[in-house]
Amino acid sequence: MALQIAALLTSIALLPTFVFSVGTPFGLATGTTGGGNASPQTPSSITELATWLSDGTARVIVLDKIYDFTGSEGTVTGSACAPWTCTPNPQLAINANSWCDNYEPSASKTTVTYDKAGTTPLKVASNKTLLGKGSSGGLRGKGLKITGANNIIIQNIKISEIQAQTQDAIQIDGGNNIWIDHNTIQAIGRQMVVTGYGAVTKTTISNNVFNGDGTYSATCNGEHYWVALFTGAGDQITFALNYLYRTSGRGPHVGTSGYYQNVHIYNNYFVSVGGHAVDPEVGSKVLIEGNYFNTVTTPILQGDGQAFAPVTSAQTAQCSSLLGRSCVANTAISSGALPGTGTDAGTLNGFTASTYKSASIMAASQVGSYVQSNAGVGKVN
Ligand SMILES: *[C@@H]1O[C@H](CO)[C@@H](O)[C@H](O)[C@H]1NC(C)=O
Repeated sequence: MALQIAALLTSIALLPTFVFSVGTPFGLATGTTGGGNASPQTPSSITELATWLSDGTARVIVLDKIYDFTGSEGTVTGSACAPWTCTPNPQLAINANSWCDNYEPSASKTTVTYDKAGTTPLKVASNKTLLGKGSSGGLRGKGLKITGANNIIIQNIKISEIQAQTQDAIQIDGGNNIWIDHNTIQAIGRQMVVTGYGAVTKTTISNNVFNGDGTYSATCNGEHYWVALFTGAGDQITFALNYLYRTSGRGPHVGTSGYYQNVHIYNNYFVSVGGHAVDPEVGSKVLIEGNYFNTVTTPILQGDGQAFAPVTSAQTAQCSSLLGRSCVANTAISSGALPGTGTDAGTLNGFTASTYKSASIMAASQVGSYVQSNAGVGKVN
């Protein structure tokens, strides 16, 4: 951690007139440069933003306000279903791509009207930095999608109000060298970050606020269920220093049949999670260390994946032979038991790369105050 802070301070001190990204990507995204040293540009409209994000030019795109897509494409009235039957305020699902017909055929049917802009994300091409200014930059009503692209930084932006019941905030279907850092994501229909089946490698998701507080929920407790889902064919992701607040599931869900994923989950602060946090499913290897779980019903769900979440010194020492260092213990207060199901030391053989060995991880006792004061928009640039 000291190294990361030193690197951050150094890069701030050396900033010339232009601001590119702030700080240096760490973990698996180390080396990512995004738009590099292209001159920063602020789009004049949502149309120009869409063009700049998707074209073949390396760009540093600075957002100095919320780019509001709501209403820009009109509304859609279509069929939907009610797969969650809890009360109060269960979330609905729209029947996009026949989702209700295929997955929830017995759910009751209904009709909903929703904002069309939320149904199609902005395409993000290779060699882009998307950077918010202060605490003012962001997207409202439309998310982002990376498909088979690489070298992308998404930093210090707010993404909110994508309410089309099946729509995600940041989708990545294949890609590498991706750094998603210091963003604040809230009020999203579905996943806040999601990978498809294409491999997502050399990727770090850090210092973000995933704010699940809302009215409608699949778990009917005002807490958003769909935080993060990693299902790619060989995903390699660092998930660190994030703040998950009032969420109720998929924090993150890792794994899908036929593929494998390694996710290093460290120094995250989970607070008021009325459901589960980490959900290791088939195919996953998840190393969970130095996290702080505060009022989390189930810190680690019993899934079909492999998870290692050390708590005792005997458990942290089990990392030494493969990682060349001890792991850092997790802590939970007012929460379900740790390590829970995270006791599979065989998980560690997925984490022998130098990035994992040299990771700078703070003690769990420091995580709450650090993450609360450093995560989300307005902390960098
Ligand atoms: C991204 O930038 C690198 C380095 O300049 C270049 O080699 C590559 O072709 C660029 N990729 C795209 C898709 O433009």
